[in-house]
Amino acid sequence: MTITVQKLTPLFGARLFGINLRETTRENIGDFLELMDLHAVCAVPHDVPLSNEEHIGFAQLLGPMERSNNKISGTDKRVAYDEIVDQSNLGPTGDIYPEGDRRLAFKRANRLWHTDMSFYPVRATYSALSAHTIPPEGGNTEFIDMRAVYDDLTESMKSKLNELKAEHCYWHSRVLGGGPEPTPKEREARPSSVHPLVNRNDRTGRKSLYLASHIRTIRGLPEREAKSLLEELNSIATQSKYVLSYKWTVGDILVWDNLCTMHRATPFADQSYIRDMRRTTCRETHV
Ligand code: OGA
Ligand code: MN
Repeated sequence: MTITVQKLTPLFGARLFGINLRETTRENIGDFLELMDLHAVCAVPHDVPLSNEEHIGFAQLLGPMERSNNKISGTDKRVAYDEIVDQSNLGPTGDIYPEGDRRLAFKRANRLWHTDMSFYPVRATYSALSAHTIPPEGGNTEFIDMRAVYDDLTESMKSKLNELKAEHCYWHSRVLGGGPEPTPKEREARPSSVHPLVNRNDRTGRKSLYLASHIRTIRGLPEREAKSLLEELNSIATQSKYVLSYKWTVGDILVWDNLCTMHRATPFADQSYIRDMRRTTCRETHV
């Protein structure tokens, strides 16, 4: 198998040709993982979207998989697999969520810059998003190369951040994104987690800044100081030179490394068009 790499920006992101993710195995996944360490975001086009089973089969080669066990599969889910997060704008019956629906409001929080599952003690490593139906316009996914952001920080900022930890909370980003206040039961179901602000990839030695809209506070800093530091870091990170805007084609599988990138959904006419995207996620260890 000869893989051809098309770079998507000078810093990061690649489209890979000559690879069919249905044919990845334990034996050949190493080549793909090396490309992930290099490019951080890899898009792989397919003529036909992978089936749910094929998607899961590929993702389980990337590491311990996330399985949501808070619902019995097949009951009220449109995509009845515990391993698949339904990122579409469709409800259980396949109809577009109406404006004002609570679940739609929570989903729109994906439009804030974030990294997946930083609010859990065991964080997400890779996410693999599969495009089944895309709207005629809008709905790109954007990424930031947090390795490049870290590299460009001043030395004094780097040494300060290397000592700091942030508290990540799922509900913080839901409310920030315009969603309703969670119920006490919802809040309890997803408590916050604390993680260092700087990650280091042990395979490459590269460091990156670990930011997300889930961050509520920074440990040991007064609230005002934490807020202004986060604002400063976010304004550095979101400069266009660090951003890749990915325009989807049906059949694409996009894999990103959550530990060295941030991403966000961009708006589309979600009351008029279907956008059916399905995600699998891997975690640092089995949970
Ligand atoms: C995700 C996500 C963005 C999008 O699947 O984790 O943030 O564009 N998706 O759907
Ligand atoms: Mn996400």
